[in-house]
Amino acid sequence: MNEAIKPGPENPSQAIGLPELSVVVPTFNERDNVTVLYRRLDATLKGVAWEVVFVDDNSPDGTWQVVRGLARQDSRVRCIRRIGRRGLSGACIEGILASSAPYAAVIDADLQHDESQLPKMLGLLQGGEAELVVGSRYIEGGSADSFNKQRAGASQLATEVAKRVLGVQVKDPMSGFFMIRRDRFEQLAPQLSTQGFKILLDIIATARGELRTIEVPFTFGSRQHGESKLDSMVALDFLGLVLAKLTNDVVSLRFLLFAMVGSIGLIVHLATLFIAHQIFGVAFPEAQAAGALVAMTSNFILNNFLTYRDQRLKGFAILRGLLLFYLVCSVGLFANVGVAFSVYDQEPIWWLAGAAGALMGVVWNYAMSGLFVWRKR
Ligand code: GDD
Ligand code: MN
Repeated sequence: MNEAIKPGPENPSQAIGLPELSVVVPTFNERDNVTVLYRRLDATLKGVAWEVVFVDDNSPDGTWQVVRGLARQDSRVRCIRRIGRRGLSGACIEGILASSAPYAAVIDADLQHDESQLPKMLGLLQGGEAELVVGSRYIEGGSADSFNKQRAGASQLATEVAKRVLGVQVKDPMSGFFMIRRDRFEQLAPQLSTQGFKILLDIIATARGELRTIEVPFTFGSRQHGESKLDSMVALDFLGLVLAKLTNDVVSLRFLLFAMVGSIGLIVHLATLFIAHQIFGVAFPEAQAAGALVAMTSNFILNNFLTYRDQRLKGFAILRGLLLFYLVCSVGLFANVGVAFSVYDQEPIWWLAGAAGALMGVVWNYAMSGLFVWRKR
C-alpha cells in the first residue's frame, strides 16, 4: 500500500522534517528526570529525525509542566497529559498511537534504561533484521545488578512463568525498554491490555511468535531522582495478563479481578452471616441482609483498590460510587435469581441453576459497574 512512499531524498516527508523515530516516555512524578533524559536523547540521536512523546498521567509533581517548557523550546518534544487515568501500559499504548513515525521506542523516564542503545536498535529495524528490538538485561552483556534481591527474584520468577506458560522465547519479556515498527504495533494494539505494567510481554504474547525479534543487551541502572511506582499489586496485574493471554482474551484482566473480588465477597457474606446469626443471635433475615450489605461494601472497597486502581474513586466520588454500586448489585441479585429460577425450571439441577445465576449476576455487576460506577471520564 505504502510502496509509493519510500524514504530517501525524493520523499517529500523528509524535506519537511517528519520524524523517523518516536521515543515514547511514560511519566509519573518524574519532574527531575525529564530534562536530563531529553538532553541525553538529543546527544545520542544526532543524525536521526526523532521526536519524543511524554505521556504523563497528570503527575502531582508537575512533570507535564516541565515537559511543556521543553516543548516550547523544541518542537520535537510533545506532551500528552492524561487526566483521571493511571497505568504504564496504557500510557505507552497511547504514546505510540499518537505517533506517525515508522518506528517507536519506549523508554523509562528515570534514566534506568540505556538510551545510547537507541541508534543500534533503530538500525536493526531499518535494516529489516527485526520488527521488534528488545533492550535485554538477561542476555550476555546485559545486567540488572542494581536490583535488590527481592526485585531480582520476582523478576526472574515472572520471566520463567512467561516463558513456560505463554511459550515466550524472548529472554527478557519483562523489560520496559524496546523499539518496534509502528505498523506492526498498530495491528496488535486493539488486543493489548491497557492495565498493568507489562506492555512488552503483552505485545510478544499477543503476536504469538509472528514478530521477528532481536534482543540487545543493556545494563539496568539505578534511579537518580524520585521513586519506583512498582508495588506489590503489579504481581496481580501480571497474573491477570498471563491468564487473559491463556484464555485468548475471552476473560479480561479486569473481569478476572472483579470475579475474584466477588468470590471474596461471598466469604465475607458468609462470615458476617455466621457472626450475626450464630454468635450474636440476630434473626436470619436481618443477618442475611447484614451479610449482603457488608459484602457489597467490602467488594466496592476492594474493586476500588484493585480492579479499578487505575481509575480509583477519591473523595466525595467514593460515596456516590458506593451508592451506585449498591444499586447495581441489587439489580444484579434479581438477575441472578431470575436466571437461576428459569434454568431450574427447565432442568432441576440445583448446582447448574445456581452457577448460571451466579454467572449472570457477576457479568451484570461487572458490565454495569464499568458503565456507571467506575466509568471512564
Ligand atoms: N504515565 C504513566 N502512568 N507512567 C508511569 C506510571 C503510570 O501510571 N507508572 C509508572 N510510570 C512511568 C515512570 O514514571 C517511569 O518513567 C516508568 O514508567 C517506569 O516506572 P518505574 O516506577 O520506574 O518502574 P520500575 O523501574 O520499578 O520498573 C521498570 O523496570 C521493570 C523491569 O524490571 C519498568 O521499566 C518496567 O516496565 C519494567 O518491567
Ligand atoms: Mn524505574
